Amino acid sequence: MINKDQLFEALRPLMEPHFNKSVVELNLVRDILFKEANVSLSLIVATEDEAYKEKAKAYIQQALETLGVAQVHIRFRLMTEYESNQIKELVQPAAAEQKKSKQVQPPIEQPILGESSKVEFIAIASGKGGVGKSTVTVNLAVALARKGKKVGIIDADIYGFSIPDMMGIEEQPKLVDNVIMPVEKFGVKVISMGFFVQDNAPVVWRGPMLGKMLRNFFNEVNWGDVEYILLDLPPGTGDVALDVHQLIPQSKEVIVTTPHATAAFVAARAGAMAIQTNHEILGIIENMSYYECKECGSKDFIFGKGGGAKLAEDLHSDLLAQIPLGAPDNHISEIDYSPSVYKQDSKAGQIYLDMAASIITKLEM
Ligand SMILES: Nc1ncnc2c1ncn2[C@@H]1O[C@H](COP(=O)(O)OP(=O)(O)OP(=O)(O)O)[C@@H](O)[C@H]1O
Ligand SMILES: [Mg+2]
Repeated sequence: MINKDQLFEALRPLMEPHFNKSVVELNLVRDILFKEANVSLSLIVATEDEAYKEKAKAYIQQALETLGVAQVHIRFRLMTEYESNQIKELVQPAAAEQKKSKQVQPPIEQPILGESSKVEFIAIASGKGGVGKSTVTVNLAVALARKGKKVGIIDADIYGFSIPDMMGIEEQPKLVDNVIMPVEKFGVKVISMGFFVQDNAPVVWRGPMLGKMLRNFFNEVNWGDVEYILLDLPPGTGDVALDVHQLIPQSKEVIVTTPHATAAFVAARAGAMAIQTNHEILGIIENMSYYECKECGSKDFIFGKGGGAKLAEDLHSDLLAQIPLGAPDNHISEIDYSPSVYKQDSKAGQIYLDMAASIITKLEM
């Protein structure tokens, strides 16, 4: 079977007609997955130019079949405005430089992004929505804090923020010396777009503004002496994931999936992106793995079985945990109520504590 470098070499001669540069140089070949003798990939296109798509498809198929690939599955995706702007900067670096020099410097130094920063970044990713990324982010962060670590969460799901509600945060961040202080709950410092939106209004900004907001979360927030920052990513492999890569190339990733085989296959795309952007995958978390009968203790695998293990194998990573179905046993009347944080002594709470321990060992070895 061929490897990624061989694939890129074979596709290098294919030119993107709009920018007149190699698709490989422009990083337009994405989501590459090898499965037995088959390859699937996405080709990002600048316009819906059917003639080019046909030509590209034929070229890729022939080039890879020559290398012994049995079947090639190609998906086309139109590039976003943000991606297109990024490529323009790449193709015309002089113009981009000029633009940069006009930008004002951020008002505070960037300790958490700076080279001297020792903060461990962990991005929580998944191929699709609703698998439990935000739940995992919140509970892994709380578990790390329960283990004595100084932890922060950046809710990078700018449009679909959910962390404040999930943790039951009602406070707003304060400004101290013109710097934003994150809100702290359960020993975790949190920043989210939700704090800056009135009455749960939807966020309708487009690409560039979104990237700017995310940067503000790093640059204009006083994170103090945090050791770990978890990033709750939006679902899929879109712009924000790319922004995160640009801002924190050293970030590690945890990939969340549900146990069904097709869910794991979709999650593999997020894995492929992590690999492509050189983000180390710390491991896989299989969420909603089974339902455990309260009376008899027997496990019912309602959503299927083995997805997490298969994904871990495909990505040469570890299955960090299997989390059962079940909402936290919390009540509105409790002090420190939060809808999504499992109590330390619950089964799920224990699983998260073990997961935190193995992540600490992995990172501090
Ligand atoms: N182990 C679990 N058992 C029962 N419900 C769960 C479990 N994990 C998550 N949920 C619930 O499933 C729903 C989706 O979870 P969550 O919001 O964490 O997913 P997500 O991947 O962040 O979604 P999105 O892609 O929309 O951001 C939520 O209502 C959450 O409370
Ligand atoms: Mg979410």
